[in-house]
Amino acid sequence: MQPALFTPIKIGPIEASNRIVISPMCMYAAEDGTASDFHIQHVMRFAMSGAGLSVLEATGVTPDGRISPACLGLWSDENERALAHVLASARRWGLPDAKIGIQLCHAGRKGSTPLPWERGGMLTPEKGAWQTLAPSAIASGEGQPMPREMTGQDIKDVIRAFAHASRRAARIGFDVIEMHAAHGYLLHQFHSPMSNKRTDEWGGDEEGRLRFPVAVAEAMREATPKHVALGARITSTDFVEGGLTVDDAVRLARELKARGFDYVCVSSGNIVQGGRPAAGPGFNIERAAKVKAESGLLTRTVGFIAGPQMAEEAISSGAVDQVALARAFLDDPNWAIHAAERLGVPLQGSRHYARVGPGAWPAASVSRAF
Ligand SMILES: Cc1cc2nc3c(=O)[nH]c(=O)nc-3n(C[C@H](O)[C@H](O)[C@H](O)COP(=O)(O)O)c2cc1C
Repeated sequence: MQPALFTPIKIGPIEASNRIVISPMCMYAAEDGTASDFHIQHVMRFAMSGAGLSVLEATGVTPDGRISPACLGLWSDENERALAHVLASARRWGLPDAKIGIQLCHAGRKGSTPLPWERGGMLTPEKGAWQTLAPSAIASGEGQPMPREMTGQDIKDVIRAFAHASRRAARIGFDVIEMHAAHGYLLHQFHSPMSNKRTDEWGGDEEGRLRFPVAVAEAMREATPKHVALGARITSTDFVEGGLTVDDAVRLARELKARGFDYVCVSSGNIVQGGRPAAGPGFNIERAAKVKAESGLLTRTVGFIAGPQMAEEAISSGAVDQVALARAFLDDPNWAIHAAERLGVPLQGSRHYARVGPGAWPAASVSRAF
């Protein structure tokens, strides 16, 4: 029997050839938001990987919506041109049925951060620090930038920026557009009572705190043509007393479904510093299953999916519809091909690398025994 992991799936208007998704990962390799040669090889290797879908890193909808000065952006014609070239290269050389998406993000109070390898303290003005925005003027942790509370005009501007970036992403030709509403970034900051202390219509009770993410979702839906799949990464727990829980995730998923979103990817944590405790294999699967069961929306999960068997079990049990993996693909861009081999399914990789395809290279079993 065909393993469930390798069955195709319709995601709204598109179809992915299997249930494996490469999770978005910031690569800190852009200049002024513009993709570089790094992205050409990075996106292309994932387009050759055999994963049904890969989703590009958190991409700022405005310059101050980036996480770091080297994050991708999609606010200018130059950003759009460069990303269009990246996508065209990936489509030219990648597998013909590889679907490619992009994640749109505003980092809010978690913006203006140094690059991971530039350790120590806050980003300095010489290195391009900017004034961050947030629902309330509360830093995300000790030693983190103090954000400015957003005005009503700021809120409208950011909603519009998500719509503009969605239009650009669709024009470039991405198959999937993903709204980032998790990991402590701006949409999550509005949703969570840990970071939203507003007393106007954009805060207060659950309905008020949901108003901004839902308004962004509506603007993105309106801006995104119907042939492009639209989804969101959401959080299933803040891991802190008084924070968001899985019931809040179910509510958000229902709101998104009602507005024509095609999927959610259920993640967790990071609304406050240290807000993601050490977690074991498959740590979001159970909460994601609840979101799927109670929202009826196509559901993906992510987080330490430890190997092909766990991925297969998450799908075949009906817990979730897709699994996303991040670090496993950085470590092994051929993860999907190797998973297929392990589960006994033929999966054709790139013809350029056919000499190491399944069964084609006797040394494979030796080299992978490390
Ligand atoms: C280098 C790196 C960059 C990441 N950047 C993003 C990002 O841009 N957007 C996002 O939603 N998650 C991001 N994440 C989180 C991953 O997508 C994923 O949710 C997390 O790593 C857990 O999955 P894993 O156990 O398969 O790595 C990043 C993770 C890593 C390791």
